[in-house]
Amino acid sequence: MINVLQALGGKRIDMTFISDNCGALSSFKLSPIPRRYCITAFGVLCFFYIGTYVILRGNSLTTMKLFNQNVCLTPNCDDNIIKFNQTHFVNKTTKKVLMWTKFFLGGWTDDIAMFMNKSKYSCVVTTDRNELESADALMFHYLDLYVWETVPGYRRPDQVWIMYNAEAPPHLHYTGLPWLNAFNWTMTYRTDSTVHGPYGAFVPLTPEEKIKASEMYRGIDYTIGKTKMVVAVISDCPDDAQRYRHMRELQKYVDIDFFGKCGNLTCPRTNNPVCNSMVYKFRIAFENANCKDYVTEKFWHSFSRNTVPIVNWKGDQVISAPPKSYINIHDFNSAQELSDYLNLLNANDTLYNEYFSWRLNYKVFGINMWYHFENLCAALHTPREAQTIIDPDKWIRTDSCNKWSITGVLQRKWDRFLFDWGW
Ligand SMILES: *[C@@H]1O[C@H](CO)[C@@H](O)[C@H](O)[C@H]1NC(C)=O
Ligand SMILES: *[C@@H]1O[C@H](CO)[C@@H](O)[C@H](O)[C@H]1NC(C)=O
Ligand SMILES: *[C@@H]1O[C@H](CO)[C@@H](O)[C@H](O)[C@H]1NC(C)=O
Ligand SMILES: *[C@@H]1O[C@H](CO)[C@@H](O)[C@H](O)[C@H]1NC(C)=O
Ligand SMILES: *[C@@H]1O[C@H](CO)[C@@H](O)[C@H](O)[C@H]1NC(C)=O
Ligand SMILES: *[C@@H]1O[C@H](CO)[C@@H](O)[C@H](O)[C@H]1NC(C)=O
Repeated sequence: MINVLQALGGKRIDMTFISDNCGALSSFKLSPIPRRYCITAFGVLCFFYIGTYVILRGNSLTTMKLFNQNVCLTPNCDDNIIKFNQTHFVNKTTKKVLMWTKFFLGGWTDDIAMFMNKSKYSCVVTTDRNELESADALMFHYLDLYVWETVPGYRRPDQVWIMYNAEAPPHLHYTGLPWLNAFNWTMTYRTDSTVHGPYGAFVPLTPEEKIKASEMYRGIDYTIGKTKMVVAVISDCPDDAQRYRHMRELQKYVDIDFFGKCGNLTCPRTNNPVCNSMVYKFRIAFENANCKDYVTEKFWHSFSRNTVPIVNWKGDQVISAPPKSYINIHDFNSAQELSDYLNLLNANDTLYNEYFSWRLNYKVFGINMWYHFENLCAALHTPREAQTIIDPDKWIRTDSCNKWSITGVLQRKWDRFLFDWGW
């Protein structure tokens, strides 16, 4: 949209337009551009989108394929990282981590200190920028690196600057400076991060734990008390993965209690016993974007409610998980095929209970997303070849999903707008 307008000689687009529905032309404050150009541009855009959706309608489970493009074109995506031939490692009993940015509006120091404390190594955390020279590592939350952020004015070769991110690229808005050659390590949910920081993990049980698990779980009937079929709680409606389209397809065949801003039922409180209740056999755990390894707490929290998660993972988003621990809608050819399968599990308790047999061999880690900072403390105590991330934005864009863009935001709003009109 912005390109079309710029080509027509427009100046700046008022930001209120971005956060508005595409249909609300009345809030379109573009004084330097004659209104008829706006309407023409808008018409061209509508024509394009309507054309696309006429072609792709009826095939909504695969609609997003058109917009997915693999950004990583080189066989080796490490190209964006310079590796030095030495470690610069300094062996210290206690490593000090300086949190250079905040985490959104809040602090993250206490959580991180708590989880680092679980490590067998020793690490301390500080927010005091006066300790820059004695810090062994600096943490930067990627989404908080706004243009006005101060770049630290001191750096030792052994001091590790770490870029932390927990959001998917379509939701990572542009914040300002590119921070080229600034960071040494990445710490994200992606498995190709320097320090892997997923929202959760399946951890294989030790032989002793297996014996305990067998005593605890063998023979449990997980259908007991489950009087309802499927629950969904979704509050972010115009998302990149078009969850609403999948939901509408599924709802044609399966009874779903749909809570949240996007559904027609409301949870009176966030931690509401109704929408968190254990009476459901299946829980929709659709992610808002189909990005590499992007699996969030929605998925991991399903397990604490003894329910089977239904996911919307695509391609390299699929994480390694024990067999029969979840159901992926993209493993089925149609919503009807999936609903037949859910009904089959619903009718046959043996088949349903098989979705809990992984508990004899694995446990779930990560009910709190900060748990992986334990890994960071260990990483800081382990010699590793020194390295620099050339372009962190490029590193993030090396993904199978769209990155954040104004057109992407408009596209999401626009698709939702069409959807609400029944397209
Ligand atoms: C670089 O690494 C190679 C292979 O490990 C080693 O043989 C070589 O001596 C190293 N060079 C320097 C300058 O450290
Ligand atoms: C660091 O020093 C301690 C004590 O000397 C030693 O036990 C440990 O192995 C060293 N660690 C590394 C990674 O060299
Ligand atoms: C870390 O552990 C030590 C000893 O177990 C305890 O004294 C300290 O309060 C803990 N710190 C945090 C931040 O949890
Ligand atoms: C919510 O929507 C579903 C599916 O369209 C419908 O069956 C159900 O009756 C609705 N519930 C309420 C409370 O409106
Ligand atoms: C449930 O499925 C199992 C495994 O396929 C089968 O052996 C069993 O007969 C089924 N039970 C019923 C009641 O259909
Ligand atoms: C971190 O990156 C800087 C800048 O390129 C580099 O000088 C330094 O050696 C790197 N350090 C580590 C520990 O990787």
